[in-house]
Amino acid sequence: MAAVKEKKQYLCSACGATHLRWAGKCAECGEWNTLEEAPARLPDKGRAGMASVENLGRPVALPQVAQDDQPRLLLRMAELGRVLGGGIVPGACVLVGGDPGIGKSTLLLQMAADVARHSGTVLYVSAEESAHQIGRRASRLGIREERLLVLAEIVVESIADQIEAVRPALVIVDSVQAIYSGSGSSAAGTVSQVRDCAATLLRVGKAQNIPIFLVGHVTKEGTIAGPRVLEHMVDAVLQLEGERFHAFRLLRSIKNRFGSTNEVGVFEMTELGMQEVANPSELFLAERLPNATGSTIAVSMEGTRPLLVEVQALCSTTTFSMPRRTANGVDPNRLLLLAAVLSRRVGLDLGDQDIFVNVVGGMRVDEPAADLAVAVAIASSLRNRPVYADLAIVGEVGLSGELRSVGQLARRLHEAKKMGFTRALAPSSTLQRGGGDSPPQGIEVIGVRTLSDALGVALLK
Ligand code: TYD
Ligand code: MG
Repeated sequence: MAAVKEKKQYLCSACGATHLRWAGKCAECGEWNTLEEAPARLPDKGRAGMASVENLGRPVALPQVAQDDQPRLLLRMAELGRVLGGGIVPGACVLVGGDPGIGKSTLLLQMAADVARHSGTVLYVSAEESAHQIGRRASRLGIREERLLVLAEIVVESIADQIEAVRPALVIVDSVQAIYSGSGSSAAGTVSQVRDCAATLLRVGKAQNIPIFLVGHVTKEGTIAGPRVLEHMVDAVLQLEGERFHAFRLLRSIKNRFGSTNEVGVFEMTELGMQEVANPSELFLAERLPNATGSTIAVSMEGTRPLLVEVQALCSTTTFSMPRRTANGVDPNRLLLLAAVLSRRVGLDLGDQDIFVNVVGGMRVDEPAADLAVAVAIASSLRNRPVYADLAIVGEVGLSGELRSVGQLARRLHEAKKMGFTRALAPSSTLQRGGGDSPPQGIEVIGVRTLSDALGVALLK
């Protein structure tokens, strides 16, 4: 092969774009001071992420392409298995992201124990904590599997050697930002290092058909630190979310080549590690005071899963010249919009009111279908009239004060009924449109056209 001249190039640590010249600002994403020097890729390195090595560069007729007939590794942790699309696919590379301290290491150690107990050897590579620390965590969690091997190592080439020597059924690398390549020139954690290390592990995993889970930390901005490039290289990206001061953790799939990205797993962080929550709605409603003003129940969808959450609002006369609008768990812009619609279309006098909105349990509801519940909660607090305790609420609010239809109404109603609600408030447009599954028996669905009508039905006289 003719010698490839090493040409310099620069990688943006925010978006992963490649530039031929250094610049203060990335032309792709507009971030400043994010370009880092990286050696140009040799042609064969670019193939690191390819699934099959044997037919590389040779066209094959589709029916002759070997079907992957290897079964998935099934997990006893059902929530985790569901988010993965039904178990771990052999040879898959999965990136698990999340804020520091959110519980990534805990969850993956539990998963490692699960696989070690039921399927085969697991290699847990710890680059951040010593084997001793992992051991302490494991004993606290009651994990003592013989087939769970712990390797404290930070050089990716040594990790690759160990994977080839041990041939485990599963590899976990915690974290990808803490390992480095001995052949690379830059320090651990830089974009090119993280990319090269991931590529090396990916190559080993694909060649040996071993699934690899990479832990990645998340930056303040919410992207998996530096290497957006990693998101493109791996087969699946899972994100562990939650608030530090609440025990609930949501595991979302952001990308999944082997399953739906709509799945969400709900966990609770306890002294015994991450416990699966089979019925999250029950958990979020547990501490509800039924006849408090400003409290409503929204039926929100997390992917394909309906979830009942309590939305609380409090209006209080402001002591400032500009009243405050504080949103916890809902989009602040959505709150501003709803407050404006309530003032202009319903005639509520919110001009001198501070408004606080909170979704209970540290949950976030980003769906517009939660609008109506938020708006009703605000009106309930302002008018000091409670909302009927047996009423669940869904609907998007438009700028004219009209209620707009929402998706998957039947599923939402089934969940509401399951949780003991006997009535539901929904946009009449959704009811007329029908379609989808039929709504369940035993729950009265009240269709309303406008926000004013909704308040007439929802608030106790
Ligand atoms: P960890 O898994 O180390 O988080 P990450 O790897 O995402 O940084 O978990 C950190 C927190 O979880 C820590 O503050 C202690 C808490 N924790 C529990 O509450 N219960 C447990 O059983 C364990 C192992 C940790
Ligand atoms: Mg950790």
